[in-house]
Amino acid sequence: MNVEGKHYRTIWLKPGNEKTVQIIDQRPLPHKFVIEELKTVEDFEKAIKEMHVRGAGLIGATAGFGMYIAALEAGKENFEGFMQKAGERLKATRPTAVNLAWAVERQLEAMKKGKSPGEKIEIAFKTAKEIANEDAEYCKRIGEHGVKLIEEISERKKGEAVNILTHCNAGWLAFVDFGSATAPIYAAFDKGIKVHIWIDETRPRNQGARLTAWELAEQGVPHTVIADNTGGHLMQHGLVDLCIVGSDRTTRTGDVANKIGTYLKGLAAKDNGIPFYVALPSSSIDWDIRDGVKEIPIEEREPEEVKYIQGFCNGEMKKVLLTPEKSNAANYAFDVTPARLVTGLITERGICKASEEGILALFPEKK
Ligand code: MRU
Repeated sequence: MNVEGKHYRTIWLKPGNEKTVQIIDQRPLPHKFVIEELKTVEDFEKAIKEMHVRGAGLIGATAGFGMYIAALEAGKENFEGFMQKAGERLKATRPTAVNLAWAVERQLEAMKKGKSPGEKIEIAFKTAKEIANEDAEYCKRIGEHGVKLIEEISERKKGEAVNILTHCNAGWLAFVDFGSATAPIYAAFDKGIKVHIWIDETRPRNQGARLTAWELAEQGVPHTVIADNTGGHLMQHGLVDLCIVGSDRTTRTGDVANKIGTYLKGLAAKDNGIPFYVALPSSSIDWDIRDGVKEIPIEEREPEEVKYIQGFCNGEMKKVLLTPEKSNAANYAFDVTPARLVTGLITERGICKASEEGILALFPEKK
């Protein structure tokens, strides 16, 4: 997508040096646009854990490139052992988004076909690029399928703006390009359909206020940032036509783990009869689990992220204390929205019911 009119992906190989990976460091956004270089497995671990990169798809793509860099680091002795350990290190960085483990396993599986470390490095290089390209392509297709939902509402409203509520950042910054929840929005905007996006600020890290707002502003899409608890009120007053959110892990039965607060939006949408869609590439589906509330590990992050708030002041990023110093804080990063609250899933293969039957109709090879 565009940054000041120039096209970027969120991760790429450094031109002229294929042993270095470049990323957009998302921490100082929207105030500073910084490109960071990752050269060692440790750089990759840090970038994922400390959220220089974030979002399920991008975490997966980063892990894919991380495994390629690990293959370069591995000596000829005990190549497999080194790669297993590198995979474990990367997988331990963040627990909820299943794309991370999926990308590591995909790399390990692909490398089995290589007969020598040299061949394995080549495979890892190719696979890392494939994972990233696939992520971008699947998000584009999510846009092509999801735009139909927006088109229908626009026709019903006789061309009046379609109000869409989204939570956190399931935009191109959370993937390699296009985003999941934002892909249908960008596709609608490009077709000239009038849209207006309500963006939940998404405490404590404010991915909505900082990142989704920045993305939409850069693409010129009309939007309004709202405090996290505003959505229910807007829905009661007919100001939301559709909710589209992302997913960090979806069970084979259609339960969805997404940024903390998504569940409450799902409840409010159900109560107000508003369609609540979840957009996700299939790399976010955990085919091995059925009960999201019981089985999806929910990341707990530092309480400091709740106690302090970060922003830009006099040309610098500043962190200020919000709560009494002595107060405890809890920081659950995700919650699970049960399938019964989800109107449908928008995937790269089409839109389906949030149920095992619905998902398997699109992905019959997973039966
Ligand atoms: O903690 P983050 O920022 O990595 O959380 C992921 C998210 O951005 C959201 O949960 C998003 O809606 C999921 S779609 C990648």
